Amino acid sequence: MNDPRLQRLCDAIPGLRLLTDPADLEHYGRDWTRRWNPAPLAIALPVDTAQVQAIVRWANDERVALVPSGGRTGLSGGAVAANGELVLSLERMNRVLGFDPIDRTLTVQPGIVLEAVHNAAREQGLVYPVDFGARGSCSIGGNIATNAGGIRVIRYGNTRNWIAGLKFVTGTGELLDLNRGLIKNASGYDLRHLVIGSEGTLGIVVEATLSLTDAPPPTQVMLLALPSFEALMQVFAAFRERLVLEAFEFFTDRALEHVTAHGAQRPFEEAHPYFVVAEFAAADELQQAAALAAFEYCVENGLVGDGVISQSDAQAAQLWRLREGITESLARYKPYKNDISVRVSAMPAFLAETQALLTREYPGVDVIWFGHIGDGNLHINVLPPEGLDAQLFVEQCERVTDLLSDALARHGGSISAEHGIGLVKKPYLLGSRSAEEVALMRGIKRVLDPNGVMNPGKVFDL
Ligand code: FAD
Ligand code: MLT
Ligand code: ZN
Repeated sequence: MNDPRLQRLCDAIPGLRLLTDPADLEHYGRDWTRRWNPAPLAIALPVDTAQVQAIVRWANDERVALVPSGGRTGLSGGAVAANGELVLSLERMNRVLGFDPIDRTLTVQPGIVLEAVHNAAREQGLVYPVDFGARGSCSIGGNIATNAGGIRVIRYGNTRNWIAGLKFVTGTGELLDLNRGLIKNASGYDLRHLVIGSEGTLGIVVEATLSLTDAPPPTQVMLLALPSFEALMQVFAAFRERLVLEAFEFFTDRALEHVTAHGAQRPFEEAHPYFVVAEFAAADELQQAAALAAFEYCVENGLVGDGVISQSDAQAAQLWRLREGITESLARYKPYKNDISVRVSAMPAFLAETQALLTREYPGVDVIWFGHIGDGNLHINVLPPEGLDAQLFVEQCERVTDLLSDALARHGGSISAEHGIGLVKKPYLLGSRSAEEVALMRGIKRVLDPNGVMNPGKVFDL
């Protein structure tokens, strides 16, 4: 260890795994945004809570910034380390600690991958229902720190709904045991919910107790082709009225082009501009008939032009791939991403305004729309025109995001539905949250992290 600060860290925590190889610094210093050049001081990989606490105390003594790091699948730059920070990777703290059949809770370490949580719940005959495309590599700690949403929010809500307890190391190294799995607990401020969505700026999640639920009834998946954007929310209303929806997702023909070029199977011979993937309970003939009735209503009213319904799990997975494969199919272009939300009731007016705005501001640019439309959440991905300098491209997109942020403010929406603010959306925070709220957030940070060592520069500047 050439750096004396790292030498003192090794002395303070014998046996702590530290990485300083350039390839490791590069690997652990970035997330899926790939916009910033990674430049961390080193990577620390603690194995238990005591080591995490000791790292935080060292960071306070040395005034070194810490970046908590899970699977680095984040899309807002929250886990980026580009300024000599110590990356605190939770990947070695990845075990299931226990299952309680009476409470129906699973207690896990923060570095466990979401898919491993799904499997552990399934082994107990239950489900952990938060789910999305990064399930194979994102961590539960990262999910909690971003209050991750995903494809089943319409039925089960965000990560926040499933956190029964948290162990949390604050920015000064104190260990808090928050809510302890209680269903009812009216004993003052619920600090657990302050931690959820705090993007590593207040401290580090070192353990989580997750609520599990019953496995859903058998479902079917329908892919619908829509003739117009205006039809989208009407189809949603028709389906929600008649069915128990597990998911209601949408994407455009541009998204379909990319995802099929990336290996997914084209679903229809004819071209259509918009698509919906709906998953719904289909446990009996009544529910299956209701699905057919919803489909027929939409066709008769010109809201849907074509559709397929899954007849097997394999077919359902094939249909889901069309929606879930979009992010990966676009990754090589380094898209500029908006992840925005409005109330579902505000969606029709907001969609019309946003469509006009983006058509005007991005002439001739490949703009790809998809997302969790049933939750009022749109993902808009802008691909860089060939030959355009990457920095210039981001600046152009940021100018458009300024306008989008104004539109969101007018419609009461949010600049970040589910990916977090991180570095990417920091300039727009005041469009979605009042100055008073942000001032209070700064005050809360100063209490939990007085020396500002926890993920500085993310969400807001101090
Ligand atoms: P990281 O990227 O490592 O970190 C994210 C933030 O959490 C950072 O600020 C980091 O500092 C902090 N953090 C990480 N671990 C801890 C901890 N233990 N304690 C405190 N802070 C911590 N997101 C959705 O919400 N819905 C989706 O549908 C969705 N789909 C995706 C699909 C793909 C293909 C990809 C690549 C990403 C998707 N995401 C989605 C975004 C991303 O997967 C989520 O934000 C996820 O929750 C991040 O988890 P992670 O472990 O990768 O966190
Ligand atoms: C999704 O819904 O697919 C994710 O949030 C990922 C993305 O926005 O790219
Ligand atoms: Zn999403």
